[in-house]
Amino acid sequence: MSRKRVAVLISGRGSNMAALIEAAAAPDYPAEIALVVANRADAAGLKIAETASVATLVVDHTRYGKDREAFERAIDAALAAGRIELVCLAGFMRLLTPWFVRRWEGRLINIHPSLLPAFKGLDTHARALEAGAAVHGASVHFVVPEVDSGPVIMQARVPVVAGDTPDTLAQRVLAAEHRLYPLALKLVAEGRVRIVDGRCLIDGAGAEGVRMGPPSPT
Ligand code: GRF
Repeated sequence: MSRKRVAVLISGRGSNMAALIEAAAAPDYPAEIALVVANRADAAGLKIAETASVATLVVDHTRYGKDREAFERAIDAALAAGRIELVCLAGFMRLLTPWFVRRWEGRLINIHPSLLPAFKGLDTHARALEAGAAVHGASVHFVVPEVDSGPVIMQARVPVVAGDTPDTLAQRVLAAEHRLYPLALKLVAEGRVRIVDGRCLIDGAGAEGVRMGPPSPT
């Protein structure tokens, strides 16, 4: 089996990155985490990656001023040098330009803490509570130029429970993210995900697609 070479882009804590590194440690996992790139030297995830002997790189966006593309060209050059085939965004807090997104189209995925298309953007847990959502969760999706809008590969559902605060809900969603992201990357790395008419079709998953989470209440 040839394992896909994957880069993970982070800005902070890196717990999803850590989950991907851990999953990829299994010899039968179809991807290897070959590179972690952070846009901040103080991103805590860098230390986790180093401890796991994964190559790391800091591309500090502040050095490029307003020139987003120059920042992204530096990242792109590192991805090329590392012979990277797939890119995972994991808490990467920079908006990407259409130039970069188009360049990596179909090979660039992101994890977002909501059941997209609900609650795009920030503060998803507080907004889900405010809206009275009974079920919340996380999505892994292909990245398109419009933020949090690309075809969804896989989702994890997390029930909202009585007394939930944004923090308690965030904790349970994050635990689900750590299971979801490795599963979604596995599907992509195996070449089992096709985009047809803006939606993901998963080979072998049937018409219901792939969903993770507790069964629906009957
Ligand atoms: C996660 O909730 C992810 O869904 C969102 O940013 C957070 C990153 O957390 N995009 P971590 O850095 O992976 O711990």
